[in-house]
Amino acid sequence: MDNKAIGIFDSGFGGLTVARAITDVLPNESLIYFGDSQRCPYGPRSKNEVLDFATQITNFLLQFNIKALVVACNTATAFSLSELKNKFSIPILGVIEPGAIAAVKYSSNKKIAILATKGTIDSHSYKHAITKIDAKCKIAEIAAPEFVELVENELKANSNLLNGYLDVKTNSALFKEFACKYQILFDQINDFDADTIVLGCTHFPIIKNFISELVPNKTIVSSAKQLALDLDEELKKLNIKAGNCNKVSYEFFTTSQNTNQFCKLGSKILCKEISNVKYIDPKNL
Ligand code: DGL
Repeated sequence: MDNKAIGIFDSGFGGLTVARAITDVLPNESLIYFGDSQRCPYGPRSKNEVLDFATQITNFLLQFNIKALVVACNTATAFSLSELKNKFSIPILGVIEPGAIAAVKYSSNKKIAILATKGTIDSHSYKHAITKIDAKCKIAEIAAPEFVELVENELKANSNLLNGYLDVKTNSALFKEFACKYQILFDQINDFDADTIVLGCTHFPIIKNFISELVPNKTIVSSAKQLALDLDEELKKLNIKAGNCNKVSYEFFTTSQNTNQFCKLGSKILCKEISNVKYIDPKNL
């Protein structure tokens, strides 16, 4: 038994979709979340830059004596997970393998489409992870970097989330614009005949309802739930799960100077009130 916190980081607040799944599956665990919002998005950055950021944040979180680390950002997982695992001795989990496991589990026709940032798509990390599990799977890799901005703009424009998802009203101007702008992208998925779509970016689960309207009858998976289940397994295996009487705490750090905005948007995604976020200047990392 070990009541120390689990560290978790993302390029911003999107990784709170992963934190939410962890709080659901592992309610006795304390979390220390770091959102690198000032340097978001990671998606268009180079591998070296993202690796530097991920190493800085891991060193920062280690000051708090964390017992395990979750890299909740797909781009950071693609660009830094193996290096972080080699460099640091605590258990470190990324989000790409869990997303791959979930996709293989649910796909019947073994045709899987990946929607992610440019960085994640260019790394082919999901393709490698899926074909390592089942070499017969066929993968369509589709970069949708604009979805990150869309989600952020919508959340800032005061949209409320229903259980962590943006509610879709098919007659709304927003949905019509989305459908029109991205029809080609969704046609690609339909033409490929994928039966399963992996939302390989922290922000995309928030618009899951939009996507399922445009590609109906497909299974849409993301890494969050499977990551939380894998984390549970890992903590059990290492005998470091928190006890039932643990006094659970959630702490938040962000590189955004607008900590109020982080609290407001983050609370919608986490489905829990975030009232206290500490600002960290990335120059001091
Ligand atoms: N967190 C990133 C990811 O999951 C999305 C936002 C970004 O590009 O930084 O890939």
